[in-house]
Amino acid sequence: VTLRVRLTVSILVALFVSFDVAAGLAWWHAARSVRRELTAAMEVGQQLVRSRIDDLAHSGDPARDLAELVRSFDGERHITASLDRPGGTAVSHPLVSDISVPAWFVRLVAPAMPPVRVALPPSVDGVIVMRAEPANEAGEAWAALGDSAVELLVFSALAGLFTLTTAGRALRPLARLATALDRVGPGNYGVRMATSGPPDVARLTDGFNRMGERLAAIETQNRRLNEQLLTMQDEERADLARDLHDEVGPFLFSMSVGCAAIDSLVGSGDIAAVPAQLGLLREDIGHVQKHVRAILRQLRPAVPLTIGLEAAIADIAEFWRARQPDVTFRLSVAGVLDGVPEAAQETAYRVVQEAISNAVRHSQARVIDVTVVSEAAGLSVRVADDGIAVPPTANEPEQPGFGIEGMRERVSALGGVIATGRPGTGHDGWVVTSFLPAPAINTSSMTGAC
Ligand SMILES: Nc1ncnc2c1ncn2[C@@H]1O[C@H](COP(=O)(O)OP(=O)(O)OP(=O)(O)O)[C@@H](O)[C@H]1O
Ligand SMILES: [Mg+2]
Repeated sequence: VTLRVRLTVSILVALFVSFDVAAGLAWWHAARSVRRELTAAMEVGQQLVRSRIDDLAHSGDPARDLAELVRSFDGERHITASLDRPGGTAVSHPLVSDISVPAWFVRLVAPAMPPVRVALPPSVDGVIVMRAEPANEAGEAWAALGDSAVELLVFSALAGLFTLTTAGRALRPLARLATALDRVGPGNYGVRMATSGPPDVARLTDGFNRMGERLAAIETQNRRLNEQLLTMQDEERADLARDLHDEVGPFLFSMSVGCAAIDSLVGSGDIAAVPAQLGLLREDIGHVQKHVRAILRQLRPAVPLTIGLEAAIADIAEFWRARQPDVTFRLSVAGVLDGVPEAAQETAYRVVQEAISNAVRHSQARVIDVTVVSEAAGLSVRVADDGIAVPPTANEPEQPGFGIEGMRERVSALGGVIATGRPGTGHDGWVVTSFLPAPAINTSSMTGAC
């Protein structure tokens, strides 16, 4: 049952009870008034009759006096007098009320008053009977009651109408609140309510609006956190793929080259050189094991450049020189690398590592130049070879790999740029240039070779 219906029923019951109480009180007042009036009228009437009967002793025509006595009650509102004697009867005519009153009401308010018989002296014989006539008094009470009832009904109707209108208006914001809550339930947190109505209802709508704002803020925050989580997951996976590629890929390639070399040594009967190649193979396997273990341990194979960028690049050259003795590596570093942020150094290291790896694998290069320039604007890295385009061999995958993409991702993560490709149409060789912006790098210069 809705609150509005409950309120309506309560008001109707209250009005009904009030009406009953008012009707009961009105009846009580009317009955008391009718009894008082009739009793008084009967007493006065009896006194009059008795004094006239006393006068009969000196009357010359008692029968005529008695008839006059009865007639003197004509037009009385509350009593009738009737004469009953052997010589004849007579009855007075009471005033007939012009108010029509229902018989049940007369019975309801009229007291049970037995007729009063006043005996006449033996000389005239007979009796005068006095009867109470409640119709007139009851009529007056009925008329008064009718007026009160109309007043009460009008009052009740107006009060009920006013209360229901007021309650309806006060409850309207609650209905709007319920509708708004229904919409918020499925997640529509943008719903707002106009603040109106009495202060307590306005407090409710205010509270609702604050709740909506809070929910919307929490939802936005959750969505942002989810997006961050997904981005972090993607970044982690990309990092993992990149690190697998950079850490393991070159060694796998080197191992495949080593196996081919051993094959050819065995084929040409140069068994004495095989142990050296096997040593290199073992070294490669050791590296792969170390890196895979590190990846498994942390799923984050970052290798801190504990020995510095220049030495780390020299290590890369050393690594390949042992495997490709015919290739000449030239390293040039300008500027001081000490102040370069670690992240920039690591990225530069990875770019050089992949570019040299590509040069060795894809270009039959004779000379590979590595130039690193550290200046105020940032860190530049350039790796150039003099090789030619080599078609994929059995040792190489036919699909382009992830090396260049990985370099680009690393460089972009630091806000840098990278370009790879041939130095110009029709030219041999391959160049990788990259720039990592780093505002606070010392610009003093030094040059070295390896
Ligand atoms: N120095 C280079 N000389 C000639 N071609 C190159 C050179 N560097 C890259 N390329 C070409 O660019 C392609 C893409 O290089 P990338 O490093 O992205 O993949 P990949 O080396 O083939 O495989 P991965 O690096 O994933 O092991 C290479 O396959 C090769 O054809
Ligand atoms: Mg590559």
